[in-house]
Amino acid sequence: MALVGTAVTTIARLGEGLRREPRRWLVTGCAGFIGSHLVEVLLRYGQHVVGLDNFATGFRRNLDDVRQAVGEADWARFRFIEGDIRDLAACEHACRGIDVVLHQAALGSVPRSVEDPLSTHGANVDGFVNMLLAARSAGVKRFVYASSSAVYGDDPRLPKSEGNIGRPLSPYAASKCTNELYADVFARCYGIETVGLRYFNVFGARQDPSGPYAAVIPRWIDEMLGGRPVAIYGDGETTRDFCYIANAVQANLLAATTRRSEALNQVYNVAVGERTSLNELFSLLRSLLAERFAWVASIEPEYRDFRPGDIRHSLADVSKARQLLGYEPTHAVLEGLREALPWYLRRLRPVPGPGATDC
Ligand SMILES: NC(=O)c1ccc[n+]([C@@H]2O[C@H](COP(=O)([O-])OP(=O)(O)OC[C@H]3O[C@@H](n4cnc5c(N)ncnc54)[C@H](O)[C@@H]3O)[C@@H](O)[C@H]2O)c1
Repeated sequence: MALVGTAVTTIARLGEGLRREPRRWLVTGCAGFIGSHLVEVLLRYGQHVVGLDNFATGFRRNLDDVRQAVGEADWARFRFIEGDIRDLAACEHACRGIDVVLHQAALGSVPRSVEDPLSTHGANVDGFVNMLLAARSAGVKRFVYASSSAVYGDDPRLPKSEGNIGRPLSPYAASKCTNELYADVFARCYGIETVGLRYFNVFGARQDPSGPYAAVIPRWIDEMLGGRPVAIYGDGETTRDFCYIANAVQANLLAATTRRSEALNQVYNVAVGERTSLNELFSLLRSLLAERFAWVASIEPEYRDFRPGDIRHSLADVSKARQLLGYEPTHAVLEGLREALPWYLRRLRPVPGPGATDC
């Protein structure tokens, strides 16, 4: 899929609209992967942004990256609060004077939640309710939040459409289902406008490649460049709808600014609507990296057992977001990978195999 005319227009229109009518934003999880991209785009569009993060899984270097990318003039409109969303007072402090919340802070990863459900619950459920309470008390107009494709659980139907969810397969999935329930209830009881975005495997620059809970794309890039074994859990025919960060950013801005009342208090799939198997992803990444580092071409994956809690197939129907929000994904997997790779090549130092040459 190439960048299409309507998508370019959508982004340009969003940017112009924000410049004409600036808002005050709170991005929670601002030092993380998705949050840092939201901060960057908002600052570029002339907005005032508060960021809240406790560095549980995020990094100061992500904020430094944003500062460098936007320059000092835009950076001056950013205020960082180091705080924990499990602390209601911190949430209330961060929400003061805010028009729109983009709530990203949470503990990601299905395996982490299976190993430590209480920590996932603390950040993802207690923290979420704190943020809703704080937003309500501060008179925040709109609360856009990160949900997940994990809510589809054991429902086998493909593509996944918003009305059909199964039983959650992990504490992480349960936490995101609970978020959707609470957002819906807060909209009904207190009149706060909420929009939930069910992200499907988002990837891009600044997604952390390290640690046991790293997402597959940064982990594989890191392992391939580091000359370490690359593990595929299962037979590699597991599929995902990989969504480049630019698409997720677009969905957030659309959700935050839509004036259509029927688009509010809803949840939306945020993805491309294309399926890639892990085997295909492996081949794609290997050939992209082999264009620069010939020795990568000989790397083969190691197949391991399936992981508990993982969904087998994931493919989104994005027609609801298209129709109600005007969402139009701009990047398919290959385009996203090409755009993200230079960042990983700067961050990670390739370790060539024996007798290796760079192309
Ligand atoms: N990346 C994906 O593919 C994906 C898919 C589905 C849903 N999501 C959701 O999107 C959101 C952002 O994910 P991400 O990929 O950017 O992850 P990330 O780990 O890079 O970012 C999450 C940020 O939240 C912060 N955080 C965690 N607990 C906190 C707490 N108690 N108080 C304050 N800050 C806290 C972390 O320090 C981190 O900076 C999360 O809600 C995640 O569940 C992500």
